[in-house]
Amino acid sequence: MTLPAALAEMPLPDARVATAELTVVVPCFNERANVAPLVEKLSAALRGLRWEVVFVDDDSPDRTAAEARRIAAFDPRVRCIRRIGRRGLASAVIEGALSSSAEFVAVMDGDLQHDEARLPDMLDALRTGAFDLAVGSRHVEGGDASGLSSRWRHALSDLGIRLAQRVMPVRLTDPMSGFFMLRRTLFEDLAPRLTAKGFKILLDLVLSAPRTLRVVEIPCRFRERVAGESKLDVLVLAQFGALLVDKLLGGVVPLRFLAFAAVGALGVLVHLAVLTLGQMLGDRFAASQIVATVVAMAFNFQLNNQITYRDQRLRGPDLWRGFVLFMLVCGIGAVANVGIAQVLYQAHTAWTLAGAMGAVIGVVWNYAVSATLVWRAR
Ligand code: GDD
Ligand code: MN
Repeated sequence: MTLPAALAEMPLPDARVATAELTVVVPCFNERANVAPLVEKLSAALRGLRWEVVFVDDDSPDRTAAEARRIAAFDPRVRCIRRIGRRGLASAVIEGALSSSAEFVAVMDGDLQHDEARLPDMLDALRTGAFDLAVGSRHVEGGDASGLSSRWRHALSDLGIRLAQRVMPVRLTDPMSGFFMLRRTLFEDLAPRLTAKGFKILLDLVLSAPRTLRVVEIPCRFRERVAGESKLDVLVLAQFGALLVDKLLGGVVPLRFLAFAAVGALGVLVHLAVLTLGQMLGDRFAASQIVATVVAMAFNFQLNNQITYRDQRLRGPDLWRGFVLFMLVCGIGAVANVGIAQVLYQAHTAWTLAGAMGAVIGVVWNYAVSATLVWRAR
């Protein structure tokens, strides 16, 4: 193809200057105060390298994205992805990494807890071609986890590490690390297999690889968080456990279904508790039963919205629309449940089996229909 004369005469930008060799992906949520200092620290640590940083912000109320763009306006090495209506560290990392065209991609926290001075060592290790993945580890010689904020966090972190080491094909002393680097093409190969849920993207990468990755661990200090607060909580740990279960099950049973069923089981307890209370207040079984059903449904809806569909959480008017739909769907599910159990029972199936079959069909229906109608993926 020949270029029009005028275009051909235009000086081409110097591609070697324009393209980064390393993209640093920084997931952030409410990290406004940390953006500028992080860019500065990266500039110092990566001096002489061609690098860029991508802040992936989930529309933080503190306007982290606006802060990143303010800096990007005068520093072309800074980019920002602002995601609306979505939450999640892992999916933020994935999107940031997939927005890169660099040869290498690093992931690090946006709260200055990770030691950016280790990035060049990671890069050097990968450039040799001897390793697929470089991980900043707090648990190898020279590393240090003293920045973890409390005893509780230490225990949580140790528990996670022990669990993870049981299922991992490679030895990683710090499988919970959120600080690592790999070749972008490797990330692209693995991306379609990732679970994209929760916190533990590194573990997900390692577990998703079709072959054992060659890992080098780089000792790191883990600094104290100065501004903002940690988002790691018990729910995050539960999601982490779920990731392990998912990988152990080979991804056959959808995790959401397990969560949904567990929530449903809790709902049964709530139902029974309300029913008991109602009966204690006076023997009006039918009325108590109705109240118990509604309370249990509201409870299930809320829990599913908070946990099962944490990443697609409904809010505002959507929340009410979702709740009404959920009641309808589960109402039909309950009718199906009772009806099927009744039919089986009359066909001389043992009452336990008949009841269990009804319940299973009910929960599968509730799950399948609410997944498409109530929490439809946006
Ligand atoms: N975009 C986006 N969306 N970013 C998020 C979200 C989210 O939902 N949740 C957290 N982040 C960002 C934070 O803003 C921060 O930059 C980074 O992800 C890590 O979150 P923290 O809340 O600071 O996590 P932490 O310090 O408790 O956990 C660190 O230590 C763990 C091991 O104990 C992280 O490095 C983890 O990756 C690590 O596993
Ligand atoms: Mn942190």
